[in-house]
Order: sequence, then C-alpha cells, then structure tokens
Amino acid sequence: MKAVRVHAPGGPEVLRYEEIERPVPGPGQVLVMIEAAGVNFIDVYQRTGLYKVPLPFTLGQEVAGTVAAVGPGVSEPKVGDRVAYTSVLGAYAEYAVVPADRVVVLPDGVSAKQGAAAMLQGLTAHYLVTSTHPLKAGDVCLVHAAAGGVGLLLCQIAKLRGARVLGTVSTREKAALARGAGADEVILYTEQDFETEVKRLTNGAGLQVIYDSVGKTTFEKGLSCLAPRGMMVLFGQSSGPVGPFDPQVLSQKGSLFLTRPTLAHYIATRAELLARAEELLGWIKGGRITLRIERELPLAQAAEAHRLLEGRKTMGKVLLIP
Ligand SMILES: NC(=O)c1ccc[n+]([C@@H]2O[C@H](COP(=O)([O-])OP(=O)(O)OC[C@H]3O[C@@H](n4cnc5c(N)ncnc54)[C@H](OP(=O)(O)O)[C@@H]3O)[C@@H](O)[C@H]2O)c1
Repeated sequence: MKAVRVHAPGGPEVLRYEEIERPVPGPGQVLVMIEAAGVNFIDVYQRTGLYKVPLPFTLGQEVAGTVAAVGPGVSEPKVGDRVAYTSVLGAYAEYAVVPADRVVVLPDGVSAKQGAAAMLQGLTAHYLVTSTHPLKAGDVCLVHAAAGGVGLLLCQIAKLRGARVLGTVSTREKAALARGAGADEVILYTEQDFETEVKRLTNGAGLQVIYDSVGKTTFEKGLSCLAPRGMMVLFGQSSGPVGPFDPQVLSQKGSLFLTRPTLAHYIATRAELLARAEELLGWIKGGRITLRIERELPLAQAAEAHRLLEGRKTMGKVLLIP
C-alpha cells in the first residue's frame, strides 16, 4: 500500500510517498481502509521534530474509512462498518490498523470526509469549550486563529453554549469566515493591537477565557486580556513554542488559571470518547455546526498540504484522499 512517511525531521520536503506493507490487525485491532485523512498542525510538529516520534513513521492521526478486517477477539466494529478515529499515528496511508476501542462508528448522514474533518479538530473544540473551561451564557471568550480548522469549530460551539465570542485572524477574508462561524467581534491581530481591542470591546472588564493555539506571538499579551480569575487555555503553538514562564505572573494579573491541555487526556476512556463523538457528530448531522472542508488533496501531495497549513493559507479543514 502507499503511505506518507518521515525518515528524518525537516520541512515538507521530507515527506516521502512510498510503498510499504499493508498492516495486519492483531488482537483487539481493526484494519481500516482509509477514505480520507485529516491534516493537522500536530502533523507539522511531528514532521519537524518539535514533537519527537521514533523514526521512520507514517504521519497523520485523523481518519475516516471502512473496516476492512478485524483481528482476534474483536466483535465491534464489524467488517464494512463506516468508522472514524483520531490520536493513533498512521493516517497518511491507504490502510491503517487501530485498536478497536479507539474507533467510532459514523452515524448515517455523516460522510467519511466529514468524519475525517471532525475527529481531531472537532473533538478538540468540543473538549475545550465543554470541559477545559465549560463556557456558559454571558461568558466572553477570545478564540485566536478563529478562521482555522479548530478555530471555526470553537466559534460555533462557543455560540451554541451562549457565550460572546471574540476572534483574532490575520486577513479580512478570514475575518468574514470567522463572523460566519458566529464570532461576534473579529480583531485583525496582524494590524490591530488585540489587547487594546479586547479592552475596548469588553469595556475594560476582560475575558473569562482565552483559547490560544498560536502560542509564541499571542500568549503573553493574552494574559493581560483576562478578567480576574480568568483562564488561559494554551492548546497549541502555531507561531512557535511559548518560552519559560514565571507562575507569579498569574497572581499579578488577577489570580489567573493557566492550562496546557491535549486531546488525548479528554478522550482517554472509551466512554468519554463515545460521549464526545456522539454529541459532536449529532451537531454535524443536525446542521447545528458546519465543517468547512476547504481542500482535498491526493495523498501523494501531503507536502503541499503542509505548505498550505504552515503558510497560513488554509481556512478550515485540509483532507488527504488516498
Ligand atoms: N492541544 C490539543 O488538544 C490540540 C488539538 C488540535 C489542535 N491543536 C492546536 O490547535 C492549533 C490549530 O490547529 P489547526 O490544525 O486547526 O490549524 P489552523 O488553526 O487551521 O492553522 C493554524 C493557524 O494559526 C494561525 N497562525 C498564527 N501565527 C502563525 C504562524 N506564525 N504560522 C502559522 N500559523 C499561524 C494562522 O491563522 P491566522 O492567519 O488567522 O493567524 C493559521 O491559519 C494548532 O496550534 C494545533 O497544534 C491542539
């Protein structure tokens, strides 16, 4: 089968489209024939070596497809079931094996492409807004990179929960998209000082929470935008990692909370994975939230997908189609 592999860390050019053995499902595993694989920023961090993975490896961790075979001891899912999963490496390929208990069966009415677009970015937006800082009506939140894959979903889910949503984006085109996803106010953080804008838009009161996936260029200033006892949710570093940090700053800026969450810990049990996926896929099926699939590229063009994502050229989901 074909797969996109990393043999040495580096730029998009290190992604190699090559022939490897199709895996065989072992006990408790299923083999999935991949119909669509999601491209995510974590794939970039793993490709560059910012997040270490033993080499060589097949990149990618967001998949939808059909169960092609099951290993010993697996009763669910069954061969032929339409499924999706996340957080298991090996998605940039024609087939992958995955533990059966990590797989979610897609409901009728949710396509494979929607499934692949929802599992990592959608579940992330879900846990951030419902669990990390459970938003409630009247809360004011700031979503950085609000027209990104996670950002567009964060805006929509935050609005479902009745919050007021401020978003930051780099271009006017992205601003229009973020507004379409429900952002009440959009700040062009490439042109405007977002701290000044947040203070103006909240009449000096500040924010209950910031969902910050941008990191290096936004983190420090964000701390000055929070209301007393507000929460900084640093969940990514698209602009680069945040440097060393003195916790005393949290006290000085208003007894703030800081967390650095990651999806794996919010879908660690099968029960939690299924509960989140059921609610999220239900919203998608019912039209309460919309997935913006902006590009579909052949698997062989994974490097181009990475260039687009890293180059801030995407607004929504990028899929690779084997
Ligand atoms: N912790 C978790 O559980 C978890 C799970 C999923 C994703 N994440 C994180 O969430 C973030 C978003 O992921 P995504 O896949 O949805 O990507 P994305 O938001 O679609 O793309 C990244 C966006 O970040 C913004 N950005 C700001 N400065 C940038 C820079 N110097 N270089 C590149 N981009 C920059 C860009 O938006 P503008 O042009 O509008 O600035 C860009 O479009 C990533 O940081 C990812 O690691 C975390």
